[in-house]
Amino acid sequence: MGLIIIVGTQWGDEAKGKITDLLAQEADVVARYNGGDNAGHTIAHQGCTFKLHLVPSGILHPQCQLYIGNGVVVNPQILLDEMDELTAEGVDVSPRRLKLSDRAHLIMPYHRALDGAAERARGDSRIGTTQRGIGPVYADKAARAGLQAGDMLESDFALRVREAVATQNKVLEKVYDQSPLSPEEIAAQYTVYAERLRPHIADTSLLIHQALEAGQKVLAEGAQGMLLDLDHGTYPYVTSSSPIAGGAFTGLGIGPGDPPQVVGVAKAYTTRVGAGPFPTELTGALGDQLRGTGDQPWDEYGTTTGRPRRCGWLDLVILCYAARINGLTGLAITKLDVLSSFDRIRVCVAYELDGQRLEEFPSRTTELAHCRPIYEEIEGWERDIMAVRTWEDLPPEARAYVEFIEERVGVPAPLISVGPEREQTICRP
Ligand code: GDP
Ligand code: IMO
Ligand code: MG
Repeated sequence: MGLIIIVGTQWGDEAKGKITDLLAQEADVVARYNGGDNAGHTIAHQGCTFKLHLVPSGILHPQCQLYIGNGVVVNPQILLDEMDELTAEGVDVSPRRLKLSDRAHLIMPYHRALDGAAERARGDSRIGTTQRGIGPVYADKAARAGLQAGDMLESDFALRVREAVATQNKVLEKVYDQSPLSPEEIAAQYTVYAERLRPHIADTSLLIHQALEAGQKVLAEGAQGMLLDLDHGTYPYVTSSSPIAGGAFTGLGIGPGDPPQVVGVAKAYTTRVGAGPFPTELTGALGDQLRGTGDQPWDEYGTTTGRPRRCGWLDLVILCYAARINGLTGLAITKLDVLSSFDRIRVCVAYELDGQRLEEFPSRTTELAHCRPIYEEIEGWERDIMAVRTWEDLPPEARAYVEFIEERVGVPAPLISVGPEREQTICRP
C-alpha cells in the first residue's frame, strides 16, 4: 500500500509530528498537504527536540524525500529560517531533498498585517488565530489574487510583489486604518527569498505521482486537525485549509488510487487553542492537571504561540465523526501517559441537547455550543507508563481504556504513544 495519510482527529496538536516521524522510518516520501507556519509539529529523538512549522516531519530519516505540497501556504522567511536551523543541526534540506510545490501560495507581510487587523476588529468574537496570515492568504488564493511559489521563477516577480502590496495597502489603510507597507522594501526582501528558494521549487504533484507509480511509500502529513477544517470543522472557529484526509488529495495533487491507509492521530484526552465551543472542556483543577504547569516539554502550551491550551476529557462523539469524515483505517492514540495521574477517567460517549441524547456530532456549530457531554467513567491505572513498550506490559486499566475507544469508534488502534520519544510507542501488530 503506497499512500498513508496522517490526520489530526481533534483540534490540532495531537502529536502528528511524532507519529509522522515514527512512520517515516519506512517511507520514501513525506509530504505536507495543508496549512502553513500556524502548525507546530514536534519530533523528539534521543534527547534532541525539533519543532517544525513547514518542513515535513520526515527530516530524521535520510532516505525520505521532503515535499511541501500545493495545499500549503508558505512564509518564505519562516521556511528559510527553519532550513537554516536544520542545516546547523546537520539535517539535509538541500534542493535535492526538500522540494516546494510551484503552486504553493506565498504568505506576504500584508497577510500577517490583515490577520492581526481582522482579529482586532472582531473584538469579543475573535477566532484566536495564530496571526500568521493564514486566513488572508487562503482568501487571496480563493479570490485568485495570490502569489505562488512558481511566481518566484518569473522575471517580473518583483513587479508582481510591488503591485500586490500596493493593492493590499488600500485595504489596510481604508478598511483597518493601518499604516501602508513599503512595496519596494517587500519586493527587495522577496527577491532575496526567491533567489534562495528557486532551486527547491518543483512540480511536487508529478514527483509524488512518480513515487507512487514506482511502488514507493508516501506519507501525507496533515497539519491542524479535523475540527479546524474549513468545511467540516467548528466554523467559524477553524483554520482556512483542509486538514482532513480529503485535503491530502487536493493539497498534493494526487488521486485516491488504491485505498490509502488513513491514520487518525488522537490524543487520549482533548485540547484546543483559540476560541469556539468545546463540550468536554475542564476549566478547574482537572483542566490544570491535564495541562501541566509547563515544566515538562509536552505540557499543553502551544508549540507555535506558547498559549496555554484548553484541556478536557476525551470526546468519542468527535472521534466517531473523525472516523466518518476521514475514513480512518487506524488510530494512533497519543499522550496516554498524561492520564496516569488520574484515579478516575471520564470519557464523553454522547451529547445531551435540549433533553435529547445525541450520538452524532452536530453539523451546526451553534448546536455544538449547547451540547453537554454524557460521560462514562473508567478506572485509572495510577502508574507511570512512560517506560512501557509492549501491550502486555500496559496496566489492565490502560488496556481497557484503549479497547473502550477502539470498540466505540469502530477503528483499531495499532499505535499507542506513552511519551514524546520515538521509542516511547507501543506498536501492536
Ligand atoms: P502536533 O502539532 O500534532 O505535531 O503536536 P505538537 O507537537 O504540537 O504537540 C504534541 C506535544 O506532545 C509535543 O511536545 C510532543 O513532543 C509531545 N508528545 C508526543 N507524543 C507524546 C506522548 O505520547 N506523551 C507525552 N507525554 N508527550 C508526547
Ligand atoms: P498543528 O499542526 C492547534 C488554531 C488557532 C485558531 C484557529 C485559526 O500544530 O496541530 P489560524 O492561525 O490557522 O487562522 O488559526 O486554528 N490552530 C491550531 N491549533 N494546532 C495547530 O496546528 C493549529 N493551527 C491553527 O489556534 O484557533
Ligand atoms: Mg502542534
